[in-house]
Amino acid sequence: VNLRIPGPTTVPVEVAQAGATEMINHRGPEFAALIARTTEGVKKVYQTQNDVLTLTASGSGAMESAVVNFTAPGDHSLVVSIGNFGDRFANLVKIYGGVLTKQEYEGGQAADLNKIEDALKADPQIRTVFITHNETSTGVTNPVLPELAALVHAHDALVVVDAISSLSSIEVDTDGWGLDVVLSGSQKGWMVAPGLAFASVNERAWARAEETASKQPRFYFDLKRHKDSLANGQTPWTPAVSLFFQLDKALEMMFAEGLEGIYARHRRIGNMVRDGVRGMGLELLADEGVESDTVTAFWLPDGINGSQVSKIAREKYGTVFAGGQGNLTGKIMRFGHLGAMTDEDIQAGLDALKSAFADAGFKG
Ligand SMILES: Cc1ncc(COP(=O)(O)O)c(C=O)c1O
Repeated sequence: VNLRIPGPTTVPVEVAQAGATEMINHRGPEFAALIARTTEGVKKVYQTQNDVLTLTASGSGAMESAVVNFTAPGDHSLVVSIGNFGDRFANLVKIYGGVLTKQEYEGGQAADLNKIEDALKADPQIRTVFITHNETSTGVTNPVLPELAALVHAHDALVVVDAISSLSSIEVDTDGWGLDVVLSGSQKGWMVAPGLAFASVNERAWARAEETASKQPRFYFDLKRHKDSLANGQTPWTPAVSLFFQLDKALEMMFAEGLEGIYARHRRIGNMVRDGVRGMGLELLADEGVESDTVTAFWLPDGINGSQVSKIAREKYGTVFAGGQGNLTGKIMRFGHLGAMTDEDIQAGLDALKSAFADAGFKG
């Protein structure tokens, strides 16, 4: 199957096989060596000297960890939402008792630094800003991150970034951009099966976690406990050991290709998908200049049923695409192009898409 959804992504055979390694004691020396090695590797991809914790959870678990560790009930937070995953941060902030300012954008738009500054000025009590780097539901990469931290820090607030579908495929310079907390998930560009999530935490964020500890209940996702355990080569709870084996192998493959090579491949393939989709007469959702290099969303033309196109693509052409989420359900389709993929895989995906649209009655 040609899996052209924006995660879970194809797991290379070598990585899948590494996951079948004989089980080990998660409190023994082999696991200590393994987690030390994977943590170093993940930190390299993050471009950070900050602590990076590996959680046995999906990406949403890492998002929840950020809310329970860095906010307390009654704290003011700004959520910059350009789509479904930004909305998830807003829900989490509300569920954990935060006072929410939600800045929303139309599907396909990127965040605007000036508007973020206006929101911070409008409520000087905002202590945390949550933002999605790459919005998987719309196929947009927010270009504001390099300048964002300076702005947020000038207002004495923290910045938390969901880089779940960008980190490891699109460059995120955690330390260079001064990002306090950055989250990612194994089933995206990391080429690992779903089940591990990452959170980087700098000193400013640790100080916040300590300050809110007595006010916000936390247990499974208590990041300080994860940090203390990591110092002893462990995790507080039983980790998904087999996925750590996979991650170890995937990181080895990533460094063999080189991070610059990986980013260049995603850029090239992103262009290839956009050209291919436009060439079929379809229109992209993303505004020009902010299109994602990991996922492309495009509008369904009038009279074309996306579920039917997806069904044909899956059954007749062995290719799986994603539909729209939230208010874009039934209006768009999404083509995932991240992680382990070659130009040939992508060309095959484009051919399948074109044939499925033609079979569904689209004349172009
Ligand atoms: C940008 C973004 N944020 C958050 C998530 C949620 O991650 P998960 O589905 O692993 O919980 C995803 C995954 O689909 C995502 O793409």
